[in-house]
Amino acid sequence: MLLFGLGTHQLTGGDLVHRVLEAALAANYRLIDTASVYRNETDIGTSLQKLYPQLNLNRSDIFITTKLGPKDQGYDKAYRACLKSIEKLQCEYLDLYLIHWPGRQKLKHDDEQNRSYRKESWRAMERLYKEGKVKSIGVSNYTIRHLEELLSHAEIPPSVLQVEFHPYYRQQELLDWCKEHNIRMQAYTSLGKGKLLLDPVVIQIAKKHGKKPSQVLLKWAVQQGIGVIPKSTNPEHIQDNSAIFDFELCSQDMDMLNGLHSNTKYCWDPSDIA
Ligand SMILES: NC(=O)c1ccc[n+]([C@@H]2O[C@H](COP(=O)([O-])OP(=O)(O)OC[C@H]3O[C@@H](n4cnc5c(N)ncnc54)[C@H](OP(=O)(O)O)[C@@H]3O)[C@@H](O)[C@H]2O)c1
Repeated sequence: MLLFGLGTHQLTGGDLVHRVLEAALAANYRLIDTASVYRNETDIGTSLQKLYPQLNLNRSDIFITTKLGPKDQGYDKAYRACLKSIEKLQCEYLDLYLIHWPGRQKLKHDDEQNRSYRKESWRAMERLYKEGKVKSIGVSNYTIRHLEELLSHAEIPPSVLQVEFHPYYRQQELLDWCKEHNIRMQAYTSLGKGKLLLDPVVIQIAKKHGKKPSQVLLKWAVQQGIGVIPKSTNPEHIQDNSAIFDFELCSQDMDMLNGLHSNTKYCWDPSDIA
């Protein structure tokens, strides 16, 4: 999996999707992260069909990730939901398919049925993998407890875990666990929805390197082998966010950024999902 890509949460509307994808592909983004719940798969698929010839690209040049929505947990629903996503994205196969959330929509967080639903979804993911409809399978928002349970029954282990991860929410134990079990971590909300860009430590390190705060935050993750998928609708930000491979953070920079951990998260919390 590529270490760098484009997030598309809350990116909707055909024209905007097209402008953002055009800017991102032109800036050498090759991974696109979406989800059925983002409701933009059709617009992304339509846009890519126009952009491939325009930018002299093929389907195989692009890594497409999408996710199984919480309402589609379960064997049959998960299988059909994946085929629907492939159809909407007009992509023939997915490079990565993730279970978006360890719970099922409309079940209480502590409902034990969440376990059987996600287990059945994983069986469907394994079938999709074996049939070549998805090149790799993984999960999102799983805790160590959910991952251990998954490994206890998985025939095919997850290759990726996508979770919230940034200096204010550095899930070190989870990262270590993933490394030990050969699961690649991909970070979301690396910029803290824009809020981490205002942190004085991040700004100070950015100034020292002649880089932008966003670039420091993305580099902090990538330098640890963690993938990033920043989202932006601004062409300048899209370009900036991709320019992170021409500098290195020193160990003192990394220590200062690691020291910002305050258990502050900006997205949903899966820790109490049964
Ligand atoms: N699996 C999950 O449950 C889950 C949850 C959340 C997110 N995700 C994925 O992760 C992606 C990224 O996370 P996110 O969208 O929550 O947040 P994010 O990438 O941390 O931040 C996006 C915000 O930062 C701003 N921004 C981006 N680049 C900037 C720059 N260089 N300078 C200044 N501002 C900048 C954007 O505004 P502008 O448009 O103005 O640039 C936008 O408001 C999502 O799009 C989605 O694909 C997955």
